[in-house]
Amino acid sequence: MPYEREGALSATSTTMKYLNLGCGARVHPAWTNVDIAPQAEGVIACNLRASLPFADATFGVVYHSHLLEHFSHQEAGAFLRECFRVLEPGGIVRVVVPDLEQIARLYLEALERAVQGDGEWRAHYDWLMLELYDQTVRECSGGDMRQYLEAAKVPNETFVLQRIGVEGQRLLAAMRAAKVSPALQDSPPSRVRKLWMGARRRTGTLRQSLLRFLLREDWEALQIGRFRLSGEIHRWMYDRYSLGQMLIAAGFASPRRVEAAESKIADWASYRLDVEPDGSVYKPDSLFMEATKPLNRSEPIQPAASAVHSSRQGTEGTVVT
Ligand SMILES: C[S@@+](CC[C@H](N)C(=O)[O-])C[C@H]1O[C@@H](n2cnc3c(N)ncnc32)[C@H](O)[C@@H]1O
Repeated sequence: MPYEREGALSATSTTMKYLNLGCGARVHPAWTNVDIAPQAEGVIACNLRASLPFADATFGVVYHSHLLEHFSHQEAGAFLRECFRVLEPGGIVRVVVPDLEQIARLYLEALERAVQGDGEWRAHYDWLMLELYDQTVRECSGGDMRQYLEAAKVPNETFVLQRIGVEGQRLLAAMRAAKVSPALQDSPPSRVRKLWMGARRRTGTLRQSLLRFLLREDWEALQIGRFRLSGEIHRWMYDRYSLGQMLIAAGFASPRRVEAAESKIADWASYRLDVEPDGSVYKPDSLFMEATKPLNRSEPIQPAASAVHSSRQGTEGTVVT
């Protein structure tokens, strides 16, 4: 059924047939870049939680990195169906999310070693708990993770940077350059704030004052709710099994895990979205998966179970583990 929503954008009215959703500052001029809070020129401002403002079969590629985990599980399913809708038959979806399996395996290792009294792994344990929980339960921008990174000396900086990669290095550098202190956190301009993505709304307007007066004790609940819908927190997590299942449920075929530099997208390396110019991985804590939109409805869709249990054959239709 054609997409009839008013104001739907076409690929020609945008730029290219490659779509980058929840792009943040990670944009490429040859792509159509979209984000709820644009940080770069040319980015289309749009809340992607409800639907995608594009006609059916507009794009050859849909890519999103560290966006899906910001939606509820239910929203994520609907969002992937929207990705399917705007892709042309034969098109590729590439999804990048924090890898739950990787974190869980590291967590168990850190737990064992921390219990045995290994000081270094105690620090790693603390960091992994922040990755797992603080990013999900925090009620203000940056949460406990920000405090951890603001410490004069991060006890396990090398480990932390291995986890959060180039983005983390930039964040730490920006925090140190700004000499962030609690008193400075609300002073514009703050690059750190942008990096944390969840700028709290100012409360000085008449509307806000009125709301505060009317809501009284519910005011705090409103603030927390607003923050938690701002797009900063993680609302679900994925591994190669659950993401593969969700892609299949959305209609995609042949979901497979790939490396950061590996893709069926033509000229992937040149866009430098998941890999830095020096070849390092932009977000090393990630799970990278690709799947295709079948050319026609009769094309067999890989059964979910075999899609995730098959081994390193790397053939079409298997998840490379
Ligand atoms: C963790 S950042 C990832 C940015 C970029 N893709 C990257 O890998 O560096 C998540 C991005 O998703 C955006 N975002 C979160 N919720 C969104 C929504 N409902 N609609 C559109 N963008 C959203 C945020 O503004 C932010 O730029």
